[in-house]
Amino acid sequence: MCGIVGYLGNKEKKEILLDGLQELEYRGYDSAGIAVIEGEKLNSFKAVGKLENLREKTKNFHTEHFGVSIGHTRWATHGKPTELNAHPHIGNYSYVVHNGIIENYQILKKALQAEGITFLSQTDTETIVHLFEKYHKELHDPFNAFKQTVQRLEGAYATLLITEADPETIYFAKNGSPMLIGFDGDEIYFASSDTPIIGKAKEVYYLEDGEYGFAKAGTVKLYNASGEKSFTKQALTKDKVLAQKEGYRFFMEKEIYEQSRIMGETIMGRVLDESIDFEELDKEFFKDIHALKICACGTSYHAALTASYLFERIAKIPCHVEIASEFRYKEPLLNKDTLFITISQSGETADTLEALKMAKRAGLRSLTVCNVDNSSIVRESDRAILTRAGIEKGVASTKAFATQTMVLWMLSLYVGQIKGMISKEVLQKEIAAMLHTPKALIVNDTLHEKIRRLSKRYLHGHGFFFIGRDLFYPLALEGALKLKEISYLHAEGYPAGEMKHGPIALADSGLFTVALMPKTLHYEKIKSNVEELSARDATILAISPEPFELADDFIQTAYDSHPMLEFFEMMIVTQLLALEISVRLGNDVDMPRNLAKSVTVE
Ligand code: F6R
Repeated sequence: MCGIVGYLGNKEKKEILLDGLQELEYRGYDSAGIAVIEGEKLNSFKAVGKLENLREKTKNFHTEHFGVSIGHTRWATHGKPTELNAHPHIGNYSYVVHNGIIENYQILKKALQAEGITFLSQTDTETIVHLFEKYHKELHDPFNAFKQTVQRLEGAYATLLITEADPETIYFAKNGSPMLIGFDGDEIYFASSDTPIIGKAKEVYYLEDGEYGFAKAGTVKLYNASGEKSFTKQALTKDKVLAQKEGYRFFMEKEIYEQSRIMGETIMGRVLDESIDFEELDKEFFKDIHALKICACGTSYHAALTASYLFERIAKIPCHVEIASEFRYKEPLLNKDTLFITISQSGETADTLEALKMAKRAGLRSLTVCNVDNSSIVRESDRAILTRAGIEKGVASTKAFATQTMVLWMLSLYVGQIKGMISKEVLQKEIAAMLHTPKALIVNDTLHEKIRRLSKRYLHGHGFFFIGRDLFYPLALEGALKLKEISYLHAEGYPAGEMKHGPIALADSGLFTVALMPKTLHYEKIKSNVEELSARDATILAISPEPFELADDFIQTAYDSHPMLEFFEMMIVTQLLALEISVRLGNDVDMPRNLAKSVTVE
């Protein structure tokens, strides 16, 4: 999703901005732009599409002296992905970049238009720069003009503003969207996440909601509703976790293959010989907790749904799962004996973050399962368990889902232990399966080749149904989501037993059914459901350790000893199937159209 980079100092600003934006590229965007003020010189460039287009446009532009600069990658929310709608947005003598959504922008825009101000774009962001210039005209003081502007904004924002009225200053404000400030002596950096400034800044301050201020002459002045605020910088990690394709065709393919290795890291020090241990947690944290509520979005929601089966089955604790964007507006009843768990790969998903804040306001204890340390959700939660998946570049999540599911499986045992709900035998059996999981995730070349070959038969039809029961229902949802994200084909995940209550009306040879048929969970039940579809001529791709004679295509899996081993093995099959179909359709596997890696708008 949208990315921000800012820099104040003597170095070549164009390169700092473009390199920084490149680091954020994997999050998804459809246009980009930069603006620089150096001495009296003000320059800005914008381009639709990939950053190469912006690089091309700026190839003869160089900066040599002290100056201020801001850059942005935009993922369209208000208005099409055009050059006019790309950031930075200009007023008469100021530029602004912004992530998030200004919810009251229409009211503000109308009022500004009534005063004769002309808007060039369809965006909510442009309101900020015009509001600033209006107040500046009235107050003749850039800082107070910016402060007044920020006070008028409702919604989520992280914003940077530069202006000829104060050409050596960068103004900033943050509320609901992530933003940090990096420091290296007199040089000051801004970014919407730490990757663009790693290796450049030495220290960092992660802005809190409601904070605003300005950077000038190597110092930062910070304010919130109570006035000026002191802040403590922390050391910024020096290690950029560089993601490279390492010989794979796509990041997504590499990430599917590396699931086996990273799963070893996810369980390291946590799955012990006779118990599960999380150094992030203790018994006290679960005192008087009698229920769990999990909130998440997309793939993370599917991991949550999988976990709800495990928590109730293993830990015998009631567990409710909700899509974060639904939870926020349903006026939920929240009890303090409920632990509020969020799941997020990025740790920046706006809906999940806001759901968490609601739960905190209601006095609930909170825990997050997240892949990004220091992300907004991690910082907002009472406790955090990191999934240790490493940076995930493919927009379609694979290894993040696998590691989330693993952490939640471990957590269900951990809670079961604390509550005394789990026998020694069950614990031993689960631990043995957990330790075996990295093996079950090894991608077998023959399997991959088989999926590649049969993918050619699944490029048309009028839709896919992924079906499964129990734990394999969330996996069916996830398999369908992966396919639609990168193939742009219609796919739905469904509980297999529910097909006869409506969707079976769609069954004919053009309906592709991907049937998840584990041996260890309700095999006979799902078999009957698939038979019902086969009898209506649906085309069946069955995935199972048990040969299934009615399948049009059959992928035989190896594991039949534990549901979770079957789960992870089948997960790999669905991921590879989506990948190979997408490749055959000629789509951009790693950056599918319309999608963003980090969804920081609600
Ligand atoms: C799909 C995918 C998304 C995310 C969702 C939530 O492949 O990645 O559905 O799962 O946008 O994002 P996080 O997990 O970062 O909160």
